[in-house]
Amino acid sequence: MTNRLGTRTERAPAAVVERLVSLACLAPSVHNTQPWLWRHDDGVLELQADLRRRLPAEDPRGRNLTLSCGAALHHLQFAARALGWETSVDRLPAGAPDTVLARIVVSRTVHHAVARGDIDLLRTRCTDRRRFTAWPVPPDRLDDLCRRAGLWGARAEAVTSDAARFRLELLANRAISFLEVEGRRLLEQDRWIDRGGPDGIPLELLPDDPDPLQARSRFRPGVLEDTRLVIHGGERVIALGGDGDDVGSWLRTGEAMSDLWLEATRAGMSVVPMTQPIEVESTRHEIARTVLTSRFEPHLLLRVGWQAIGRRDLPRTPRRPLRDVFVG
Ligand SMILES: Cc1cc2nc3c(=O)[nH]c(=O)nc-3n(C[C@H](O)[C@H](O)[C@H](O)COP(=O)(O)O)c2cc1C
Repeated sequence: MTNRLGTRTERAPAAVVERLVSLACLAPSVHNTQPWLWRHDDGVLELQADLRRRLPAEDPRGRNLTLSCGAALHHLQFAARALGWETSVDRLPAGAPDTVLARIVVSRTVHHAVARGDIDLLRTRCTDRRRFTAWPVPPDRLDDLCRRAGLWGARAEAVTSDAARFRLELLANRAISFLEVEGRRLLEQDRWIDRGGPDGIPLELLPDDPDPLQARSRFRPGVLEDTRLVIHGGERVIALGGDGDDVGSWLRTGEAMSDLWLEATRAGMSVVPMTQPIEVESTRHEIARTVLTSRFEPHLLLRVGWQAIGRRDLPRTPRRPLRDVFVG
């Protein structure tokens, strides 16, 4: 096949597309729900939201679901580039059903070198909820990470001033306390812990919270709640979002999140999402109004910091087999 410039282009064969999808599925997702489906037809790959995997109590509008799909979309593009392929992406294609988030054509005109290190990065990235060290994250590193969001049409701001950090701590605690008394949400969350199958979060990856200074985990409500800190000394929080609070903006924020997370991993930093303050609409608005200095809709908070040197490797979260994520 030739393109408009008369250059020969090669569409990726099915085996390459399958490899790319399996790498895309290493993306982070809310509660490891992996809420995506893929269809490959006549050289075009389609990413669909798997609405059966939405969390009706915690994520009624599907923001976290779409962020997760956006991360998978970015992982796919990243993996393609690493393996020497090019992607052209049509987000929310006109005339397609609402569940179709993107159509992707994978092709190449010339053979590029394979970047093995980038493929390793996809396998190394993980959510490590162990306590961060006190080492501060240098402001220029944060700025570099935040700048990346713009490449994806998303917005990012690092929460750095003492006043903003204090305010965010207050709001995060308020949101967590609010969510802890909502039985419906707690039940839903519990259903995704230690399922023993190809999805959900294994118990061994969740902190047991014996230490009152440990960052509060959404998964283990503590006893001495008022003594617990959500945001510790060395770590910094990046708010990610966009101009709107809709599917299109969430998808782009998901792509930006994945990009930022992989680059932070490359630099040896650790990233842990913190979505409770965003899941409660009143604290989400307060964050936009009183914590952020630029005007945008926050979709997600990321805690960024350094983990202890010499820590042991964590077991990986499971993934669904390819046959379960491909639709015919
Ligand atoms: C949109 C989104 C929201 C998330 N929210 C949280 C959170 O609030 N707390 C948390 O500890 N992890 C959160 N995570 C991390 C997921 O639990 C994690 O990505 C998933 O279990 C897969 O594990 P992995 O990242 O190690 O591959 C979130 C991830 C995404 C994509």
